[in-house]
Amino acid sequence: MESIWSKSCDIPRREALKKSIRTEVAVIGAGMAGILTAARLQKAGRRVVVLEANRIGSGQTRNTTAKLTAQHGCFAKQLTEALGPEKARLYVQANKEAIDAFRTLIQAEGIACDFETQSAFVYGNDEARMKQEAAAQRKLGLPAALVRAKALPGSPEYAIRVENQAQFHPLKLLRAVSEPLTVYENTPVRRVEGHILTTEGGQVRADRIVFACHYPFVNVPGFYFARMHQERSYVLALENAPCPSGMWIGAEPAGYSFRHYGDLLLLGGGGHRTGENSAGGRYALLRKQAREWFPESREAAHWSAQDCMPADGVPYIGRFSAGRPDWYVATGFQKWGMTGSMAAATLLCDLICGKQSPYARVFDPGRFDTKAAAGIAKEGLHAVKGLGRRIFQIPALQAEDLPRGHGGVVKAGAGKLGVCRDDAGGLHAVDIRCPHLGCQLEWNPDEASWDCPCHGSRFDREGRLISGPAQRDLRSGRT
Ligand SMILES: Cc1cc2nc3c(=O)[nH]c(=O)nc-3n(C[C@H](O)[C@H](O)[C@H](O)COP(=O)(O)OP(=O)(O)OC[C@H]3O[C@@H](n4cnc5c(N)ncnc54)[C@H](O)[C@@H]3O)c2cc1C
Ligand code: FES
Repeated sequence: MESIWSKSCDIPRREALKKSIRTEVAVIGAGMAGILTAARLQKAGRRVVVLEANRIGSGQTRNTTAKLTAQHGCFAKQLTEALGPEKARLYVQANKEAIDAFRTLIQAEGIACDFETQSAFVYGNDEARMKQEAAAQRKLGLPAALVRAKALPGSPEYAIRVENQAQFHPLKLLRAVSEPLTVYENTPVRRVEGHILTTEGGQVRADRIVFACHYPFVNVPGFYFARMHQERSYVLALENAPCPSGMWIGAEPAGYSFRHYGDLLLLGGGGHRTGENSAGGRYALLRKQAREWFPESREAAHWSAQDCMPADGVPYIGRFSAGRPDWYVATGFQKWGMTGSMAAATLLCDLICGKQSPYARVFDPGRFDTKAAAGIAKEGLHAVKGLGRRIFQIPALQAEDLPRGHGGVVKAGAGKLGVCRDDAGGLHAVDIRCPHLGCQLEWNPDEASWDCPCHGSRFDREGRLISGPAQRDLRSGRT
């Protein structure tokens, strides 16, 4: 499973950290958020290093669909209700400015990253809802127009169009922007205490620390695990699939996403909470739609990714927690982390350089009002239910029942294990407790991975960590 972005762009390798160093700012994570933030800070005259567990752009950024828009789906009415009109306008303004900042950066530095101006559309059939949403988007400062959308596959009636948005190749941009930065690859940060970051190769002493590692792996302080879960979605790149230009997304959660890259159509969908796909069939669903809508099409690639979903629908960008004034965070982009990363880079640079920003109070990770509290309580309840529901149940399934290519939680003596049978018939067994906070993992047949329903950590069939908040592999089990 490789995205068209990673297939078409190599980023030169960097050394791992092999000694202890000092710096002004340490950024954890070399995805879109970490690299843009580090670049901003370096331009502002700060000494910055980036510490990356794997490779530059190897996290969710390599599997995005890379639309740059301030129209975040069918969002304006709900956002206005959640934040009030003033903060909701600022949210949109931050994302509009992020698109301008991409344009300026790409033009000023001559970055070849297939940047194209495009219109963004959200489509749907419910006329009253679409009219209301278009009006709400206009009130927030988006030039939104309600248009007919029949030419789109599935023939939806309406779409809300916002012109002058954009799309690009995310890894080509990261390759150029990361070039002048000091980045240590294969350098997972194991611990952060005060101003010290500990890695296997040495310690980093930093005046300021930015967590741009997708999901913060420090549980306390911050308690991000109580206010975010993760959601996955799936993408096919199709040749010979004629579709109107523009960047499209459905108004309903089950809707599909469309954009072009060159001659390819990227068809996205099949979203679900990470760890809740034991029945599988997400790629099958996309392939069925592709056959129905584009019978002449051919699949060039398929991939998936996941993102952090904050309890109140607004990313957490700013001070990590009141008790750690020199720690900062950028997370919770809810599948809009391209503009979100640029907004984070601008805001974090302002905060670290001691400047005021109108956006600080919109994205403040310390916000906690009654509406957010309701979301947080729901989030915590879901995680506790995930833990309680499954961890004490003894499954009926035995390892020998598993067909080739399948996995599941099986009975093992008085306990249980996660077991998968590979295509050659070999069994692979792992401890089924997530090393983050102990929830029971679920087998994801679409990706052949063990996924956690609580906060979205993922592991391959051998138990190797794919993505956090967990920070270590699963213990292996015996069948
Ligand atoms: C299917 C899908 C489509 C999407 N499409 C769009 C879109 O069209 N437009 C849009 O705006 N957004 C989109 N998004 C969202 C966007 O892709 C993400 O929000 C964004 O890529 C997140 O970037 P990031 O830098 O926060 O995380 P990542 O890219 O995951 O980077 C985090 C990095 O931190 C590293 N790391 C983790 N732990 C440690 C540690 N302990 N030490 C050191 N390094 C560590 C990881 O290895 C990783 O490289 C989409 C999301 C999905 C799921
Ligand atoms: S990711 Fe938190 S318990 Fe698994």
